[in-house]
Amino acid sequence: MDKKATWDRFYTENSSRMPEFENFEWFFGFNSVQDFIMPFLRSRSSSDTLVRVLDMGCGTSAFGPSIYRHSPFPVRVTCADISPVAVQLMQESIRAKAAAPQNPSSQLEVLELDCTELCGYFGSNSVDLIVDKGTTDALLRSREGQGKASQVLKQCLRVLRSDGSLLQFSDEDPDARLLWLESEGREPGVTAADVGVHEIGEMRGMHYYCYQVTPRPVLH
Ligand SMILES: C[S@@+](CC[C@H](N)C(=O)[O-])C[C@H]1O[C@@H](n2cnc3c(N)ncnc32)[C@H](O)[C@@H]1O
Repeated sequence: MDKKATWDRFYTENSSRMPEFENFEWFFGFNSVQDFIMPFLRSRSSSDTLVRVLDMGCGTSAFGPSIYRHSPFPVRVTCADISPVAVQLMQESIRAKAAAPQNPSSQLEVLELDCTELCGYFGSNSVDLIVDKGTTDALLRSREGQGKASQVLKQCLRVLRSDGSLLQFSDEDPDARLLWLESEGREPGVTAADVGVHEIGEMRGMHYYCYQVTPRPVLH
């Protein structure tokens, strides 16, 4: 689950089964969590700058495009994935049915990016909100992906603004995920962060959570 080729195969097979493009959601979609997302956008919106949002490991999910469409606040949403197949499907679908955003200043882009190298694309302290729906889960569930999950977390903490947040949507139990996030935060060179969890609810017998990671303000 940490290999580009695995995901390319997954998205190729998935799209070949459908007569035309349909978004694929790993678990729930935007509607289930928009009440978590909108307050973040509201708290960071200002009249002169776009709220910077990253959907990290977007796949072919409608999550990022839905934030772009439904946010009343001006946003610049970047949907990024390591799989060029997923990225191309997303770019084509957006070109084919570009829906106007609620805020006319909002922007949307989809790009191929390995999220272990976020700093090569985003400046430090530049992103307001990172959403991760199933991406860290996928990395943590493969043996070689564990190191990548740590790298991704470090990169997120570097590119997030000091008042920004990373939201990891996951079915992993809090006992395991909170322990992992807290232990990662104690590694040398990692930006200190506060970690919290909210239960989203139960769907098809599974419990889902939102893990919120917020860089700790640096005291001078
Ligand atoms: C479990 S899927 C979730 C996809 C999407 N977020 C959703 O909810 O449907 C994990 C996604 O992470 C992507 N991915 C895995 N490793 C990645 C990496 N290093 N950088 C960027 N994306 C990655 C995969 O290509 C895949 O689309």
